[in-house]
Amino acid sequence: MTSSATPASSQTRLASRVVSGILNIKPVFNVAKGRARRMMVQRASGIGLDWHEEARKLRSRETEAALAPEWEQTLAEVTDPNLVFPDYYLKPFHAYEQGNLGWDPAMEVEVASQTVHAQIWTGRDAPGDPQGDARLRKSYHDVLKAQLPETPQRILDIGCSTGLSSFALQEAFPEAQISGVELSPNFLAIAHYRNQQRVAQGLPNIELHHGVGEATGLPDESFDHVSICLVFHELPQSATMAMLKEARRLLKPGGRCSFMDMNPQAEAYRKMPPVILTLLKSTEPYIDQYFSLDVSRAFELAGFETPTITPHTPRHRVVVGRK
Ligand SMILES: C[S@@+](CC[C@H](N)C(=O)[O-])C[C@H]1O[C@@H](n2cnc3c(N)ncnc32)[C@H](O)[C@@H]1O
Repeated sequence: MTSSATPASSQTRLASRVVSGILNIKPVFNVAKGRARRMMVQRASGIGLDWHEEARKLRSRETEAALAPEWEQTLAEVTDPNLVFPDYYLKPFHAYEQGNLGWDPAMEVEVASQTVHAQIWTGRDAPGDPQGDARLRKSYHDVLKAQLPETPQRILDIGCSTGLSSFALQEAFPEAQISGVELSPNFLAIAHYRNQQRVAQGLPNIELHHGVGEATGLPDESFDHVSICLVFHELPQSATMAMLKEARRLLKPGGRCSFMDMNPQAEAYRKMPPVILTLLKSTEPYIDQYFSLDVSRAFELAGFETPTITPHTPRHRVVVGRK
């Protein structure tokens, strides 16, 4: 599905096609991938985060072990051994050869999220804001609070990663019961560990499920709200459509599905320097499909009313559709 309101200018589309062609050359792809990663590690230090040290602390669970043995136990506890991974998921993502399926990406995703989001409001050339990630999530939830007619009681977070988006939802909607679904068992193991830490501090429990967002196996009409945060840019359009249909099945009548993700119409993307575009594409295999998706049409085809689309940061938008 492509959009009649395709965001990019013809010049940008041409640049994008040239970049994709270049990235099809494996050695070039590998160089771009390595450079993208080095740039991220460097940016982390710009906001006072030691990338490797943050990952090491999580790996060891504050012990001397390189990988605390408890991780394999947590992994076994959260993994659904019958789950079949969709083919599109078994690709390199974010400069990790194993994509999201491994300890390296799982241990680094929290520091990566803080690093990437540090420059949303400051721009690429200024020092980042260490609170950028928290601010991004808060501004998403502020849009929801302004648009939802009532506070949802049961919220599902599809693609919950290590719990980043679920814990933020819990803080924004303290009365709600939050559930998370995640495809990567390693990410989910960390979500489980973080959740235990939070529960020990008296915070509410999050229900966590190992599952495919397109077919969660959760009961029909069991949620007031389904949130899909920063996931669609990682999916081919066919999976996005399937996930929206699954969200509709899971929602009670009148419930809302929302997603927050990059806004292809944002000037920051339309004017992105080719070098940065190349680095972005080398780590995000489905970004072109996401950028050309007509989201209004996608929601309508999945059975929702025409959604609202609200740009809420210089780079992101919130889309909310009613069942
Ligand atoms: C960029 S991360 C965003 C995570 C989190 N929601 C956040 O706001 O930081 C995308 C997440 O979606 C997960 N994911 C991708 N495809 C999925 C699918 N089909 N079903 C469930 N989770 C999926 C990935 O494993 C990853 O954890």
